[in-house]
Amino acid sequence: MFKLKDIARENILSLHPYSSARDEFSGNTGIFLDANENPFGELNRYPDPYQKEVKQKLAELKKINAENIFVGNGSDEVIDLTYRIFCNPNKDKALTFTPTYGMYDVSAAINAVELIKVPLTTEFQIDLNLAKDFLSDSALKLIFICSPNNPTGNLINKAAIEYLLKQFKGIVIIDEAYIDFSNSESWITMIAQYPNLIVSQTFSKAWGLAAARVGIAYANKDIIQLFNKVKPPYNVSELNQQAAINALTNDTVFKQNLQTIKDEKEKLKVGLNQLNQVIKVYPSDANFLLIEVMNANRIYDELVNQKIITRNRNNIIHNCIRITIGTPEENMQLLNALKNIAI
Ligand SMILES: Cc1ncc(COP(=O)(O)O)c(C=O)c1O
Repeated sequence: MFKLKDIARENILSLHPYSSARDEFSGNTGIFLDANENPFGELNRYPDPYQKEVKQKLAELKKINAENIFVGNGSDEVIDLTYRIFCNPNKDKALTFTPTYGMYDVSAAINAVELIKVPLTTEFQIDLNLAKDFLSDSALKLIFICSPNNPTGNLINKAAIEYLLKQFKGIVIIDEAYIDFSNSESWITMIAQYPNLIVSQTFSKAWGLAAARVGIAYANKDIIQLFNKVKPPYNVSELNQQAAINALTNDTVFKQNLQTIKDEKEKLKVGLNQLNQVIKVYPSDANFLLIEVMNANRIYDELVNQKIITRNRNNIIHNCIRITIGTPEENMQLLNALKNIAI
């Protein structure tokens, strides 16, 4: 049985968080002489520490309660806070399935946590036989699953995730940074059923707000309360909160752009498959395509020479390049450039 108090760090469970001026009084009207702010200017007031308006809008959109939502300074903050809440430095461990998003590793190293890397299969799926033996290690606190996975683009099998949620006594984090590009359902709907599930999402990809740095964690309210205790008091700036609120309020452009990116992905896939330079285009539920080519280093360099920057993943997946879906013009230019590279 999963028990949060057996998994979270003791010092975090007993932490008395900083109480900000805006925690003690949160009304909008009055004479505010409590937070040592400057009385002049436009951005002179501290932002809402709990991002209530952003959460309210997200709660409506996702049909869950605001108390199940944490908003962070990008989902990279969610990843870092997860380590800090659950893993004692130089003692506890985390596990992930590789190749995957590099920040699980970097954040583990920053927090002095050992990250166990279990290789994905050749179809980039979880091999439970390889993972099973690690689950009983009492030092293992976290499992990171990226779905759709970066840099491979595929969704991770539902049955394997369900197995881990049921069998593992620690926390399972499903990173859904790219889920809006997929036609599959989010795992958010399962947070009531699995008390050990955290789902992270972001405004950086489909919402087009990478510069604003707004990430989200969805989980049961006891986990969300731990995030709220540990986060810096004003972790999401007023400008960033407003950017997220605007996007959620006026979502017509967002929806149009999302559809354009999905359509362009299909077109790019067809175009890439016609090129001699391309050996394979992997299936993708994200806003990028992983392609296998004859010589990734050379193709990457030749594209850079033409000022087209892709992500060379040759060092982690042999001869593979990851290509983000751009505007229709950018994708056309990419295809033309690739066509003109001799094999
Ligand atoms: C899988 C995955 N998770 C998280 C992030 C980081 O997102 P954010 O901009 O919200 O920090 C990225 C960014 O590339 C990503 O690929």
